[in-house]
Amino acid sequence: MDYNRILVTAALPYANGPIHIGHLAGCFLPADIYVRYQRAQKRDIKFVCGSDEHGVPITIRARKEGTTPQAIVDKYHKMIGDSFNDMGISFDIYSRTSSKGHHETAQAFFKKLYDDGIFEEKETEQFYDEEAKAFLADRYIIGTCPVCGNENAYGDQCEKCGSSLSPEQLKNPHSALSSSIPVKKKTKHWYFPLNKYEDFLKEWIVEGKKDEWKSNVYGQCKSWLDNGLQPRAMTRDSNWGVPVPLPNAEGKVMYVWFDAPIGYISATKELTPQWADYWQKEDTKLVHFIGKDNIVFHCIIFPSMLKAHGDFILPDNVPANEFLNIEGDKVSTSRNWAVWVHEYLKDFPEQQDILRYVLCANAPETKDNDFTWKDFQDRNNSELVAIFGNFVNRTFVLMHKLCEGRVPPLHEDILDEQDKAIIQAIKDAKTYVEQNIENYKFRDALYEVIDLARKGNKYMQEKEPWIVAKTLADNPENQMKIDNCMHLCLQLTANLAILANPFMPFTTQKMLHMMKVVDKMLEWENAGRLDLLKVKYPLRAPELLFKKIEDEQVKEQVDKLHEASAASKQQAEQETKSSAPVKEEIVFDDFAKLDLRVGTILHAERVPKTDKLMKIELDMGFEKRTVVSGIAQHFEAEAIIGKQVTVVANLAPRKMKGIESKGMILMAEDADGKLVFVSPVQQTAPGSEVR
Ligand code: 2FM
Ligand code: ZN
Repeated sequence: MDYNRILVTAALPYANGPIHIGHLAGCFLPADIYVRYQRAQKRDIKFVCGSDEHGVPITIRARKEGTTPQAIVDKYHKMIGDSFNDMGISFDIYSRTSSKGHHETAQAFFKKLYDDGIFEEKETEQFYDEEAKAFLADRYIIGTCPVCGNENAYGDQCEKCGSSLSPEQLKNPHSALSSSIPVKKKTKHWYFPLNKYEDFLKEWIVEGKKDEWKSNVYGQCKSWLDNGLQPRAMTRDSNWGVPVPLPNAEGKVMYVWFDAPIGYISATKELTPQWADYWQKEDTKLVHFIGKDNIVFHCIIFPSMLKAHGDFILPDNVPANEFLNIEGDKVSTSRNWAVWVHEYLKDFPEQQDILRYVLCANAPETKDNDFTWKDFQDRNNSELVAIFGNFVNRTFVLMHKLCEGRVPPLHEDILDEQDKAIIQAIKDAKTYVEQNIENYKFRDALYEVIDLARKGNKYMQEKEPWIVAKTLADNPENQMKIDNCMHLCLQLTANLAILANPFMPFTTQKMLHMMKVVDKMLEWENAGRLDLLKVKYPLRAPELLFKKIEDEQVKEQVDKLHEASAASKQQAEQETKSSAPVKEEIVFDDFAKLDLRVGTILHAERVPKTDKLMKIELDMGFEKRTVVSGIAQHFEAEAIIGKQVTVVANLAPRKMKGIESKGMILMAEDADGKLVFVSPVQQTAPGSEVR
């Protein structure tokens, strides 16, 4: 089908943290490459995105940071938007779902489905946290995954094995808010009957998209459809989200996956008064760029919503990427195993294109891939510096040296086989890059760009114009050979700028400056042309396009990754410690077996040849006794003399380092492992019972 306009969306990132390079590789970079290419083709295209500001991850983050969800989304919306901007992700609009406009659009959408009788209203029993006074859906509930046994699976998904779950499937469910065991309580919600859309989806995807969609996307959809679809609740009990626009729906908001994709529509509305053309006209090509964890929402749920609504077109394609691992391990924001975009930009200022290049050259297009800093260095040093940068630099240096800094003429009558081959390569490159981008094969497209530079280098190496220049005194006609080589190398450089532009727009701008040409040259129809730089046109001196990455920089980044992750692990351990779950319940008789007494420390000394042990003489009132306690790293012996402590007086004696210890001194330990005595707040008689 011929399209007259294109609408590209990139998955709205949750505004609950900064973005990392996995996000870029997953959908934003491929989307940006596609859009920049289509703009160069002068097609009518809009590129929309924004922050996904609702949902449980945001409310949980707010609780954790002791602030409001609005404060969280304000902070990260700005930060994420800046990172995109700095990386050259060229959205036409970066909106947000907490905006008034989005709430209105999402509510109108919901209301239309409601009025058309699409929803099923159901009262069911759901998990409820009596301590936090909240229903526990999605990520509010944690338990053991029935599929892989992961003890930290969420109520909507297990992040370890990727299974999609419902809270009822979790074993040992507990609340993410208070760690308490939830009870069941009745609540009413509006369900979208996905089951009724199975036939439509089968026809549209299984029959219609088999050869068009990427096999990972098609495969996931097919397996969802083969397993059968169930009605899905589209509302939640919460005060953070788009309020359900119905009477008697107090405390109910839309499920985040209902409102978020509608965010694409709201963003388009905010962008242009012509928004309806992009959403309602059949000659619009709608393309959703996403990561693989979003496939079901974009291929099954959202299209069914659009179909139910009736006024909207469906996506033409949903090119989802797989995941990018880092240094052999899965990206994890909770373990801080990630390369954050804002940090990359600080450590590698003005070097956005290296990252764009590496993430595209190694994109997880068909399977999960690994990002390593070593590969980052290798690709930069041996591809960008040694091939692309080197070719452009040599071309400019030699043109200044051998052609007086001007574009030399092309002498067609003396073109040889090598000249003709490189001319053909320039023309072919356009076709190859174009075909690959149109088919969402960005890695292959980028390979063709670099391959053209590689061919340019080889051509120049074979022609050796610097050697030919030495023959000029005897054979002045050889200047024509030099002219031809340099002319073609310069036209090839101009072609490289056009072809590389979608991938490395910052580098392209530097090249335009060197060539003294304007952006217009980058229009795609100019690719393959051999007259882009006019004969005799003076060009600037070369600028270094890429510089080498040193081993030291690689080491710094790898160390940084490990250090950040170790620090986050330590913090998590402390948090778990400070919120250690309460032990199993005991009966009063169990407690009554303990004989707790107040004792006064009479004397204390370190036990020789041990780090931790302290020998303590206690006045227990009814007797004096010796206790060995593991507190020597926390207290000086002299400093604790005279202190009153609580002692488990009836603990069976045991020998430590040859000393018999009779009883145990109780200590309180905080999250940092700091110990303090459990002492009566007022002085009391030694031997007093503690009950
Ligand atoms: O997975 C995510 O990060 C979601 N916030 C993506 C939402 S995409 C769309 F539906 F808005
Ligand atoms: Zn699992």
